[in-house]
Amino acid sequence: MKKIAVITCKGGTGKTTTAINLAHCLAMSGKRTLLVDCDGQANVGMAFNVQPQKGLAELLTTGDVEITSLRPNLYFIDSGGTRIVETELYLARQTDREQRLKRVLANLRGTDYVICDCPPAINLINMNVLNYVDGVVIPVSMDFFACEGAKKTLKLLDDLYEKIGHRVELLGILATFFDTRTKISKSIYNQLLTEYGDKLFSTKIRINTQLKEAQMLFKTVFEHAPYSNGALDYFLFTKEIANHRENGVPVEAKQDETQAWMT
Ligand SMILES: Nc1ncnc2c1ncn2[C@@H]1O[C@H](COP(=O)(O)OP(=O)(O)O)[C@@H](O)[C@H]1O
Ligand SMILES: [Mg+2]
Repeated sequence: MKKIAVITCKGGTGKTTTAINLAHCLAMSGKRTLLVDCDGQANVGMAFNVQPQKGLAELLTTGDVEITSLRPNLYFIDSGGTRIVETELYLARQTDREQRLKRVLANLRGTDYVICDCPPAINLINMNVLNYVDGVVIPVSMDFFACEGAKKTLKLLDDLYEKIGHRVELLGILATFFDTRTKISKSIYNQLLTEYGDKLFSTKIRINTQLKEAQMLFKTVFEHAPYSNGALDYFLFTKEIANHRENGVPVEAKQDETQAWMT
């Protein structure tokens, strides 16, 4: 089982969109995938039109949870919405405050991937997620603040390793909101390439309105617009995740595999 957080200390960088479409693409490829919404904004539930229920808030406090089936092979734990704020207060009083998620999900079986959609914060929920996952994907929209958010997130991973010896692997930095027409997108992408080298995913997620439309229609991009740039980009990105080797080198998806999927 591979446990992955989509996380960065900056809002609006495409975390939720990435988590949803990555999870659905993995599920469509036959991998049993559990999507966990760790953000009080509860955007994942909204995007699938699922009403709030016993979610992460309940799981972290009582150990009780409801797992919803969203699509074939795709399962979901919602965040519990604003109740997650009370959960943070509750966690703050516990001795295992940063290890709860790891403990309550320790017996999870029969799942190939767990994908956690995280809030853009340094809080106890995210510390629980980082203590639980093996690796992170850091989405960087093509702007300066997002680059800084990525740095802050990487620092958090280093601090965690220093503090408790838990090494969370950087699966990669994902360029999102890439605008092929602008110089700024190219320049920030090149900057990321210089800084992170092969830790930058080869796939760039281009700006694509159909990604937005899909969420309004309670669909993933693969259901709403399977031939769109958004679907293609998220397919190629998912291939990189699926091909990821233990030595930490992301493998570029091959174009001919894309063609096979698109036909
Ligand atoms: N590549 C993209 N092209 C166009 N719109 C996008 C793209 N990625 C995300 N969006 C839209 O931008 C907004 C913020 O994205 P979201 O995934 O919610 O970011 P975050 O979870 O990091 O706050 C949403 O309305 C989403 O539909
Ligand atoms: Mg979000």
